[in-house]
Amino acid sequence: LSDVSADLTEVLFTEEQIHAKIAELCRAIEADYAGERVLLVGVLRGAVMVMADLARELKLHIDMDWMAVSSYGAGTQSSGVVRILKDLDSDLHGRKVLIVEDIIDSGLTLSWLKKNLQARGAESVEICALLRKPEAAKVQVDVKYIGFEIPNAFVVGYGLDYAEKYRNLRGIGVLAPHIYA
Ligand code: PRP
Ligand code: MN
Ligand code: MG
Repeated sequence: LSDVSADLTEVLFTEEQIHAKIAELCRAIEADYAGERVLLVGVLRGAVMVMADLARELKLHIDMDWMAVSSYGAGTQSSGVVRILKDLDSDLHGRKVLIVEDIIDSGLTLSWLKKNLQARGAESVEICALLRKPEAAKVQVDVKYIGFEIPNAFVVGYGLDYAEKYRNLRGIGVLAPHIYA
């Protein structure tokens, strides 16, 4: 993270810590889906890094598909009303679906998405999220696989952006207030 270290107040997780956690999540997922074919659904764009690492670490027969969603709302506040910008290409009937996300903030996106995918006839819909901010929750989402619980801070890196920047950082850090103030 050295080239942007002035933009961060703290490194929360290094690349190594993230990869160790991804491996841990994968062992749990493999145990639950042993012998099964799983459809991983990544939520663009934040989930791209988690998806890439999770998919390669999983010793399971997986498929990958992608959705892009946007939540309507006044200003920057998420409203819970979600619009599909890019839908899945896959038919979910009878599929075991695992939604892959970088972070659960208010929970509004995933709460909506899980119901939406369940309504398409999937056999099961579970969630794997690398990060969760418990203090920011507006709605409780049932998440089967969680990497780290973090404080209610503005975090970037490893897929997470501020105004589309910092997604390509290998670690995850807290954005310095002078950047977004
Ligand atoms: C972020 C993040 C999650 C969502 C979480 O995505 O990647 O998808 O917000 O917020 P919530 O729990 O409050 O609904 P964003 O909308 O910023 O799009 P991006 O993934 O393209 O950055
Ligand atoms: Mn996202
Ligand atoms: Mg974003």
